[in-house]
Amino acid sequence: MGISKNLCNLFCIFLFTKNLSATETCPTKTCGNSSIRFPFRLQGQQPQNCGFPGFDLTCTNHSAALKLPNSGTFFVRNINYAMQQIQMYDPENCLPRRILNFNLSGSPFLVPFYENFTFLNCPSDFARSRFTSIDCLSNSTTAVLATSSKSLADYINTSCSYITTLPVPGSLLVLQDDGFLSDLSQDLQLYWNTPNCEDCEMQGGTCGFADSMNQVIGCFSGPHQGNLSYSDGTALHVLRIISISIAIPIISCAIGFMLFICYLGGRHGGGTITPAVLPRPEAVTTGLDQSTIESYTKLVLGESKRLPGPNGITCPICLSDYCTKETIRCIPECKHCFHAECIDEWLRNNSTCPVCRNSPASSPSTQNPHVA
Ligand SMILES: *[C@@H]1O[C@H](CO)[C@@H](O)[C@H](O)[C@H]1NC(C)=O
Ligand SMILES: *[C@@H]1O[C@H](CO)[C@@H](O)[C@H](O)[C@H]1NC(C)=O
Ligand SMILES: *[C@@H]1O[C@H](CO)[C@@H](O)[C@H](O)[C@H]1NC(C)=O
Ligand SMILES: *[C@@H]1O[C@H](CO)[C@@H](O)[C@H](O)[C@H]1NC(C)=O
Ligand SMILES: *[C@@H]1O[C@H](CO)[C@@H](O)[C@H](O)[C@H]1NC(C)=O
Ligand SMILES: *[C@@H]1O[C@H](CO)[C@@H](O)[C@H](O)[C@H]1NC(C)=O
Ligand SMILES: *[C@@H]1O[C@H](CO)[C@@H](O)[C@H](O)[C@H]1NC(C)=O
Repeated sequence: MGISKNLCNLFCIFLFTKNLSATETCPTKTCGNSSIRFPFRLQGQQPQNCGFPGFDLTCTNHSAALKLPNSGTFFVRNINYAMQQIQMYDPENCLPRRILNFNLSGSPFLVPFYENFTFLNCPSDFARSRFTSIDCLSNSTTAVLATSSKSLADYINTSCSYITTLPVPGSLLVLQDDGFLSDLSQDLQLYWNTPNCEDCEMQGGTCGFADSMNQVIGCFSGPHQGNLSYSDGTALHVLRIISISIAIPIISCAIGFMLFICYLGGRHGGGTITPAVLPRPEAVTTGLDQSTIESYTKLVLGESKRLPGPNGITCPICLSDYCTKETIRCIPECKHCFHAECIDEWLRNNSTCPVCRNSPASSPSTQNPHVA
């Protein structure tokens, strides 16, 4: 039994190697700064089965663009294949406007967390110099303000008119210390769970369809085929033909033989030929990943240098006093705040608040699949 099981596993390895030829038809493409490979696909440059549904990109003006079914087109800043995150921006540099019509339904992408904001239209002479407004939505007569504080919204609502209340993705939250959202040019950070190529990417494999009809993902040995340029392809091509012509008879023989052995092996042989995703490994890092950290609210200190919540005038990490215009990041659960660069560095290596040792990762409000 043991031997036949091992042989059947060997048979699986054969299947994998054979399938590798399928991924060779999906070389990595570049568009601007982004390298594009499975699950993404550059429309018109890579065949349909090189990408997962919902991950089609176009290349416009040297920038990869992703069209979300209900939210329009965003430009891609960066794709992190190992963390399954995509960082995007608005081609017209006004993400707040895009958020007013933002709906991820019908797309494979998710937001780590949202916070509800009330948007208000205020006369600009009322708002100017008193409150932070969203510049790209405002004009000379009207200023658009957004706040998550109900009391602030109520306080100004006699002078302003209500536009809407809607969830704003966490990565965009940069609050000024007057409590209003500013339009500092943040990127939109999304992640995806399906297809799950995380483990394959971590192991340096090439993720792709093992069976594109049934959307079964496989992890293929060898690095991504990014460097396989067409000019040096001819020699490789000949080599490939030779190896295939040798490999096919061997594989056919092996398949016949293995099927026979598997058949003898009975129940043990049957179910093992599933080139699906490997189980997730245990957490390898002790810190939080970048998108979780980015999802925590940032704020820029104003003249008052006033921090929200139970916070003093000194950053507990670097022990220097806060200054005007410095960027602060707060941990949502315990409301402890720090210089953004101090806490970001800390959270990359530790998953607990340095002051109270509470673990932000265990809170349900920051559910992020990448935090093991
Ligand atoms: C590409 O860039 C040019 C010049 O910057 C601009 O006029 C054009 O609208 C851009 N095209 C797209 C599709 O963004
Ligand atoms: C490409 O990368 C360079 C340097 O990292 C950066 O300055 C530039 O903005 C990037 N371009 C795009 C379209 O993201
Ligand atoms: C998002 O779009 C879906 C499908 O069009 C719709 O059912 C849903 O109500 C929308 N959600 C919001 C918050 O508008
Ligand atoms: C935002 O408001 C909606 C509707 O009032 C509510 O269902 C949702 O839970 C709120 N989301 C957050 C993150 O508070
Ligand atoms: C400013 O924006 C408001 C609301 O969007 C609009 O009603 C008004 O006509 C705009 N004014 C100017 C001068 O563009
Ligand atoms: C201002 O807030 C009050 C209480 O929440 C509400 O009844 C009223 O409709 C609001 N006014 C405007 C203009 O939104
Ligand atoms: C090929 O790989 C080398 C080393 O990793 C890298 O410097 C080079 O830019 C790559 N070329 C292409 C076309 O991706």
